Parts: sequence; C-alpha cells; structure tokens
Amino acid sequence: MDSPDFTEREQQLAAVYDKMHAARETATIVSDLYAQAMGDVYPHEINAAGAVDWPLIATIVGALRLEPGHQLVDLGCGTGGIGLWLARALATHVTGVDISATAVRIATGRAREFVPAERARFTVGSLRATGLPDRHANGLVCVDALGCELDRAAALREIYRILRPGARAVVTSGRRRTNPVLPPWPEQAAYAGLICEAEEERPHEPLLWQRLYWLWIEHETDLRKQLGDEPTDSMLIEARTRGATLDDRCSLAVTLRRPEE
Ligand SMILES: C[S@@+](CC[C@H](N)C(=O)[O-])C[C@H]1O[C@@H](n2cnc3c(N)ncnc32)[C@H](O)[C@@H]1O
Repeated sequence: MDSPDFTEREQQLAAVYDKMHAARETATIVSDLYAQAMGDVYPHEINAAGAVDWPLIATIVGALRLEPGHQLVDLGCGTGGIGLWLARALATHVTGVDISATAVRIATGRAREFVPAERARFTVGSLRATGLPDRHANGLVCVDALGCELDRAAALREIYRILRPGARAVVTSGRRRTNPVLPPWPEQAAYAGLICEAEEERPHEPLLWQRLYWLWIEHETDLRKQLGDEPTDSMLIEARTRGATLDDRCSLAVTLRRPEE
C-alpha cells in the first residue's frame, strides 16, 4: 500500500482531527451528549463522531446487501465503530481509511471488541487517495466525512475505482435547500461513472444536530474539564456557526452504484 501523500490542506485537516479524536478518546461526555440528543435511536456501541442512528444503520444494511466474507470499506472511518459493527453483524471484512493517524490507532485498538483480527484493518489515507486496490470493495460507507473534502469529484472517482462492478456505496451528505453549491447527486455521480440509485432525506437529522449543539453550549464547563479548551472551543464554534444554518439544511443518505460491466 502506498504511503499517504497529503496536500497541505489535508495535513491541516489531519492535525485538526488528530486533536479531536485524542481529546475524545478518554472522555465520556461527548458520547453522553450524543446519546441525550438522539434518545433511543442512539447506537451506543458504535460511538460514532457523527449523526449515526439506528435508521441510518438500517439504510446502510438495506442498500449494501453484503454477504458473509465480503469486503466492506469504511471511508473517513474515524474510530471505526460503523464499519466494525457492520462487519460483525454481516460477517464481512472491513477496511477503514481515515486521514487522522490518531483515529486509525484508536480504531485498530477497538477492532478486537468486534471481530477477529484478520477481519478488520485500518489505514491512514484520504478520501481522494485511499491507497486501496482497484475493485477491492463489495460495499462502502462514508459517513459525515465527504463534507470535509474540497475536491468532491476526486473523492467520487476514488469510490468508483475501489468499488467492484455492481457494488454500492452509501454516503451521507448535507446540502443547502436554498442556493445549493454542488450539482444534484445524479449529476455528481454520473461525472464519476457512478449511478445514483437513491437519495433518502433524513428529515429528523437537522433537529438532532440542533439538540446536540444546544447541549454542547449548555455543558461548556464540563466539556472544558474533560476535553480541554482547544477542542471545546472548536465544538462551540461549530455549534454556533453550523447551528445557525440548520434551518436551511437537507440531510441525505445517498446510495451510489458502480455499474455492472
Ligand atoms: C465527523 S468524523 C466521522 C467519523 C466516522 N465516519 C463516524 O461517523 O464516526 C469525520 C472523519 O472523517 C475524517 N476525514 C475528514 N476529511 C477526510 C479526508 N479528506 N480523507 C480521509 N478522512 C477524512 C476525519 O479524520 C474524521 O475522522
């Protein structure tokens, strides 16, 4: 596998996410607040760093149609919970790729809680250059990571490259309702050679973020105690800036497919 060749922007992103994952590694407050914001749709064991709830897991399982022994890729895997949970539930292998070496280290440490060692591997790479072989994946997930990639077209071409013909990917994505910046999903997919099979709106997701952001603001003192000032400051900035745009946000789970040959 090639060693990652990150752009300057990717190196900066990796440093930001390294700090975030390191700060959350031992703290319980972040997952407690996610659980409070989501209620009984929160999958505790997955412990994701995004809006991962049981309805999203159901969408992923239904769309990917994986079989035992298949190869799953978790792109922008963070600390690995989504891919590991799916690999255990569906008896697949999983390869997680993330730009943050800290996330990859934590994910590697969690793997044995879910599946035997030979069924999970985590590696540092970017969305546009995963380092994985062509046609590696029978299925792929990319949850709450695509929004960080400035070169969306390159990330979609990489997804096309690593999917086997006929295999599917589920990516989550947010878009403004007014003045969307990017073309509609069928167009973005077609540009990379993919088919957009489904765009499922998740109408409850902006409200979930709103509840979470309120909780972050309300629990500022506890966040500072458990995470430190820098990670808390960036969470509060996110809560205030992104929080103010949620009324205009449409959250989607998009199913993409590489055509059969
Ligand atoms: C919000 S977290 C979500 C993590 C995971 N998917 C989950 O739901 O728990 C976003 C993750 O994407 C990773 N990421 C962001 N931009 C990336 C890029 N260009 N290439 C690879 N990983 C990236 C970050 O390091 C971070 O772990």
